[in-house]
Amino acid sequence: MFRKFVVYLVLFISGFCSTVRSQTQAVDAEGHQWWQHAVFYEIYPRSFMDSNNDGIGDLNGIASKLDYLKSLGIDAIWITPCYPSPQVDFGYDVSDYENIDPMYGTLADFDRLQQGAKTRDIRIIMDFVMNHSSDQHPWFIDSRSSRTSAKRDWYMWHDGKGSAEPNNWVSTFGGSAWTMDFKTGQYYYHYFYPQQPDLNWRNPAVHDAMFDVTRWWYKRGVAGFRLDAVDTLFEDPELRDNPVLPGLNKYGDPNEQDLYNTKLPEVHVVLRDLRKVADENNAVLIGETWTKDVNELKQYYGDHSDELQMPMDFLFTKVDRLSPPEFRRQIAAVDSAGGWPVFVLSNHDIVRSYVRYGDGQNNQAIAKLMAALYLTLRGTPIMYYGEEIGMQNTDPVRKEDVKDPIGRVGWPQEKGRDGERTPMQWDDSPNAGFTRGTPWLPVPLIYKTVNVATELKDPASILNVYRSLLALRHQNRALLDGDYVALNENDPNVLSYLRRYKNEAVLVVLNMSSKPQQVSFDLAPQGFDAKNAHTLLTTVATGSKASSVSHLSLEPFSVYIGAVSK
Ligand code: GLC
Ligand code: CA
Repeated sequence: MFRKFVVYLVLFISGFCSTVRSQTQAVDAEGHQWWQHAVFYEIYPRSFMDSNNDGIGDLNGIASKLDYLKSLGIDAIWITPCYPSPQVDFGYDVSDYENIDPMYGTLADFDRLQQGAKTRDIRIIMDFVMNHSSDQHPWFIDSRSSRTSAKRDWYMWHDGKGSAEPNNWVSTFGGSAWTMDFKTGQYYYHYFYPQQPDLNWRNPAVHDAMFDVTRWWYKRGVAGFRLDAVDTLFEDPELRDNPVLPGLNKYGDPNEQDLYNTKLPEVHVVLRDLRKVADENNAVLIGETWTKDVNELKQYYGDHSDELQMPMDFLFTKVDRLSPPEFRRQIAAVDSAGGWPVFVLSNHDIVRSYVRYGDGQNNQAIAKLMAALYLTLRGTPIMYYGEEIGMQNTDPVRKEDVKDPIGRVGWPQEKGRDGERTPMQWDDSPNAGFTRGTPWLPVPLIYKTVNVATELKDPASILNVYRSLLALRHQNRALLDGDYVALNENDPNVLSYLRRYKNEAVLVVLNMSSKPQQVSFDLAPQGFDAKNAHTLLTTVATGSKASSVSHLSLEPFSVYIGAVSK
């Protein structure tokens, strides 16, 4: 009788849990979620593939490349905004959250893309631009129409101080963060461009409308969101001036500490609520979180792991040279935050890693080295399109060619972000096979050799190194779930670590210097036998048969990855 009761109880509890948690299904016995074993890939839709030859990439273009993504080893794609937009900030100014911009296609195209992705087991993540809408969104058009309009309080309207702005806050894209609207005689606030007015998240109607947007996309089948600019959701209700720092920024504005208009505690309340909705949909929330240190990063996971599953860590983007000590420091810091790491190497706002780390002579080897680092760390990688073929920045050379408005305001110090957003290089046909029209940004001439089709044929290409690394990552338990153990921590030239999972471990050795290096490992303290190894992947010419890692000789910028046993 008692036994029966226990059995029932267990059944009841597991039944209960499975209804409550049915939407956050684990993929293994250890409770890992799908997004922890997935490799994400960021697609900038304007630049990925153009299906109708108007020079701008589109959803059907993405759909035509799903097989490529699958064979590369991608499990989820994050599409940067493809909603209706005046395109002032190339989609980050949304004028309708529940539709597709005609230049990218239709909702029916989206559904087809989603279907095509699903059959290949690829999930789709949308970009949720929560902080602001476009000034052409019907909400803002209503809001600015009069001081008493129904949606006046959906945005941040304030009186000036005499004839001046309400306070000293500057826009991160240059100039004051306040724009006077002469019709109603008040200023509205915008952390970004004036065409991107900040929504008033203290207004419950805004909160509800935006939450409904996420539900609407979940119903359509999306697997989560990348939350744009979450740091900036709330502002100090008293509108206190930000502390002014010495000097001027690249737009000629005084440097400020964004004390009163970023990272307010209220952000976390919204994230916790968004997470509940995400959990009901087995969805993941990735945050664009520009944290300055690990303490700030920790907060975005939530005190009870109830906020973002994947807050992005941007500290790598501040490591601007191949420095093992600096990478070691950042990896250890993120690891110590206790959450699931999401290192960022490249994206549509950052100079491509090929250029940031390349020395001009060994760029190919360095690109492979960075791929090996990025894809063997603990956590979930988010690759940026084109990194896998070694795309470089192609910055505009004349101010009049700049498309990204910040590049015109900040010229020549800030050339804008066009350089990292050039069309994907598919093959050696005109415009790299991206379009038969005129591409919206120029395709660099190097596409003749740096392109998918050509690199696929070369076993030693950057693309094939990526493919091998991704394949390895998907089937190797230590790379997926193992912990991170730093090795040889005083070595200034070679970054080495172990990914350790139960009886298995993978040793990763990265020579970040332009000189050959000798390294030695004694893995006994970590419970492994350095003399019992086999190579999984290496760019060292002589390293493919190593059966011991007690001593390794590494060529400049080379990679050794091997399995070690107990
Ligand atoms: C984020 C986006 C960037 C955009 C900005 C404003 O930082 O990544 O591209 O310009 O938000 O939405
Ligand atoms: Ca097109």
